[in-house]
Amino acid sequence: MVSIATYLFNPSYHLKIAHYLLLLFLASSYLHTSVNSCLDEERRALLAFKEDVIDPSGRLSSWVGLDCCQWKGISCNNSTGRVEMMNLRNAYMYTLSAFDGEWDEMEYSSLGGKINPSLLSLKYLNHLDLSWNDFQGISIPEFFGQIKTLKYLNLSSASFGGEIPTHLGNLSNLNYLDLSEESDNSLLELPSENLNWLSRLSSLKYLNLKGLDLSGIRVSWLNVVNMLPFLVELHLSSCQIQSLPPLSPANFSLASLLILDVSCNDLKFPFPEWFFNLINLRKLDLSGNSLSGPFPSGFESFKSLEHLDLSFNSLESQIPKLVGSFCNLKILNLARNQFDGGIQELLGGLSSCPNSVLESLDLSSNMLQSKLPASLGMLHNLKFLNLYDNNMNGSIPESLGQLSQLVHLDLSFNPWEGFLTEAHFINLPRLKDFALGRVDPNPILPIPLTFKVSYDWVPPFMLHKLNIGYCKVGPAFGVWLQSQTELLFVKLHGTEISDSIPEDWFLKISSQAHYMDLSHNQIHGKLPLQLKFPNALFLDLSHNQLRGPLPLWSGDNVIQFRLETNSFSGPIPLNLGQKFPKLESLHFAENHFNSTIPPSIGNMKNLRTLSLRSNQLSGEFPRELSLLPDLMVLDVAYNNLSGKLPSSMGASVFLFSLTMNNNNLEGEIPLSLENCTSLRHIDLGDNKFTGKVPSWIGLNVPFVSILRLRSNCLSGHIPQQLCNLEYLYILDLALNSFSGTIPKCLNNLTAMKVAPYYSTAYDVYMNYHQQTTVMKGRELQYNTSLMYVKSIDLSANSLAGEIPEEISSLVLLHNLNLSMNQLSGGIPLEIGNLVQLENLDLSLNQLSGQIPQSLSSLTFLSYMNVSYNNLSGRIPSGNQLQTLIDSSIYEGNPLLCGSPLSTACSEDGNPTAKDPKDNDNEDGHDELWFFVSLVLGFIVGFWGVCGTLVLKKSWRYAYFQWFDTIKDKAKLAIAVKVLGRFQRNF
Ligand SMILES: *[C@@H]1O[C@H](CO)[C@@H](O)[C@H](O)[C@H]1NC(C)=O
Ligand SMILES: *[C@@H]1O[C@H](CO)[C@@H](O)[C@H](O)[C@H]1NC(C)=O
Repeated sequence: MVSIATYLFNPSYHLKIAHYLLLLFLASSYLHTSVNSCLDEERRALLAFKEDVIDPSGRLSSWVGLDCCQWKGISCNNSTGRVEMMNLRNAYMYTLSAFDGEWDEMEYSSLGGKINPSLLSLKYLNHLDLSWNDFQGISIPEFFGQIKTLKYLNLSSASFGGEIPTHLGNLSNLNYLDLSEESDNSLLELPSENLNWLSRLSSLKYLNLKGLDLSGIRVSWLNVVNMLPFLVELHLSSCQIQSLPPLSPANFSLASLLILDVSCNDLKFPFPEWFFNLINLRKLDLSGNSLSGPFPSGFESFKSLEHLDLSFNSLESQIPKLVGSFCNLKILNLARNQFDGGIQELLGGLSSCPNSVLESLDLSSNMLQSKLPASLGMLHNLKFLNLYDNNMNGSIPESLGQLSQLVHLDLSFNPWEGFLTEAHFINLPRLKDFALGRVDPNPILPIPLTFKVSYDWVPPFMLHKLNIGYCKVGPAFGVWLQSQTELLFVKLHGTEISDSIPEDWFLKISSQAHYMDLSHNQIHGKLPLQLKFPNALFLDLSHNQLRGPLPLWSGDNVIQFRLETNSFSGPIPLNLGQKFPKLESLHFAENHFNSTIPPSIGNMKNLRTLSLRSNQLSGEFPRELSLLPDLMVLDVAYNNLSGKLPSSMGASVFLFSLTMNNNNLEGEIPLSLENCTSLRHIDLGDNKFTGKVPSWIGLNVPFVSILRLRSNCLSGHIPQQLCNLEYLYILDLALNSFSGTIPKCLNNLTAMKVAPYYSTAYDVYMNYHQQTTVMKGRELQYNTSLMYVKSIDLSANSLAGEIPEEISSLVLLHNLNLSMNQLSGGIPLEIGNLVQLENLDLSLNQLSGQIPQSLSSLTFLSYMNVSYNNLSGRIPSGNQLQTLIDSSIYEGNPLLCGSPLSTACSEDGNPTAKDPKDNDNEDGHDELWFFVSLVLGFIVGFWGVCGTLVLKKSWRYAYFQWFDTIKDKAKLAIAVKVLGRFQRNF
């Protein structure tokens, strides 16, 4: 035996040990090179690739060091160490949510630049994925066709452009080829000649050409794909296919197809016979085509179908029984068609399958009527049920409560009646997402559904998303609501809750929710004073009865914050701007805030809408707010603001609406506003502004449609350039000190002559507004109907001269008020051309001559006043004039005679006794105030499966509330990606 000491002290042993160690080292380093580290040549090839690629976010930063097999996105074969896989997909695609930052992040983490042919040195590369990057329109490299080892090639949505090189046809080992573009407009084109290169890909199992234009291909694409013997999955979505071409049955090899996606084309029925021979299909997607008529009959042949999508077509009439054939169906999507009738047949069929496997049923946005059958409860595997936007009425069956797997349930936008009870939810432990009711109050329909559960009911579910609009949930904020402590999205809008918000619940939800809308209830009490909303994008407590000082909340991500129409009082916190740095929309109108406007609001650089209307705010308008760069709507009307406006007013070229009426503002209207070339709506009325009508209105600022400067201290002439305002339909300069004459060019005001133009963006902003103007001699509050009222009010000034005859060409005018001036001459003879006129006030002037007979043709006239002038002769009669029997409207004209004055007409008339009879003709007026809220309807209806999506930021959050499945988020992301590229290109 050799002792340890011998080893340690005998030199010959030392030598031996060194020898062994050396061997060991060599062996291990040999093993190391063979298993883990890549060939030098391949490493250099990858580095050359990296060199040419643009990588703003440093995704390839791990590409350093010797062992390229450890680099991110690279995989090597375990035994040979050769690079087999390059996966450089932009993974940001998967993590999208509604946060803006993440979209930007996705764009940022795209790779771009050139692709170095050094990849050809990767002799064993079989998997290459460059999807969701942004190669900015460069061609797909021809040399890809030489990487013969490739089995998987994914170039989808990577912004390659130009013709696809036919060289790809050399990839005879390829199983998987994805050239799709998620946005509708692919930059890629198919080689114009033919698709023969495709047919050479004889190993292909998966082919995705989404977004490529197949309509120009001379050879039938169908013949080509039919030559791919192993093809199991074919995606030809958005390929502009008009019809399915015929195919001879003799050499039909497509029968092995398992997945066929021809969505978003222009397909119509009937389909050729071969189509119904695809009997092995598991998934068939025909959504977004032009299919019409009843549910297609040949579909029974698809016995293996697990997923059928016919959404976004024009299919109609009853959904048939589909019995037997569809017993394998897991996903059925018939949304966005025109199916009517009930769904008893469908459910009857599905529930007669021996074991219902249906997991997802989407029937949203059809015209389905009648009741929801109780057999619904038989679909015991159902996870997703969407009946949104139909005409289903009656009560909801209690069997709903048996769908124990249900996760997502949307019953909103149906005229349900009756009650929802505990039984409806008794066995729904998995429910996460529940929507009911509608967005807006519908005055025609009653409140449809009432929650009738006991106060202390604890439901079996723990929701993440609760979306109830205009159903009765209140009056109490019941235990069932308080038990929902995992909510990320909560909307209880118009639910008749007249309780205080339980503080514990509110604390919990505020710490996690992305979206919180408790508006249009009668929630009262005070709110917790210090709260953080770290995740919330949308915060709406408006239209309640909340009291107390404004809580010092903060929300780093909040985009929209609404507290309008409550009873908050005291100051607006000075540091509000720091607490909500990302706010785009701030609504604090109609409360009792009584401080100054905090200058810190100027820190909200993204602010687009600022409404502080109808409070008791005082002090000057802060200069900091005048510098907001993106402001579109500014409304501080009905406060006690004083002093001059800052000379920097109007830094935002987007400013659309400037509403500062009913304050104590003074000084001149700032010249700097001439930079606001988008201004449509200017209301500075009821202040103490001095000086002239600014010259920029009508010159630099051409689109003004409402100009309201009434009740100020403005003077000078009415400038000619106002006549350039072809969109102007409300001009209110009353109660100032204007002198001179009424410009003759008023007949250039086109909007008072031709029907209004509509623009949806305009509606959105008009919808926000509540404006005031004077009609019928008194002030009325009115809102969007303003769009339909055309008015000129120049009353109570010092205007002299004649009323220009040109004014009679403004044939859409509803209101003309020129009273209390020094106008002379006659009433324009053609005034009867103003056929829409409802109010005409010419009183207190020096008008003379006869009242034109044409006045009697004004059939809508409900108020007229020509008193205190020097008019003479017989009062015309006929039509509407007959109904204006109040003689005071003619009084003060000693030379007038005839009915309704008591003076009979002879040579000279005498002053008559007044007849102070009340004459209230308001009713005929009401139709003017008719207003249809189309904005939300628009927002909900706009979304199409194939829609080209160019979205306004603020609208995205409106969508977000109703569409937040992963799929929709992805679509949104795509839209934004497209939009980003679009903007970049221009
Ligand atoms: C290669 O190694 C990975 C992880 O080291 C392992 O998951 C995989 O199964 C191995 N493959 C083979 C073919 O040995
Ligand atoms: C604002 O209102 C509160 C009561 O709501 C009052 O105590 C306070 O004095 C008011 N402040 C101003 C400046 O008017």
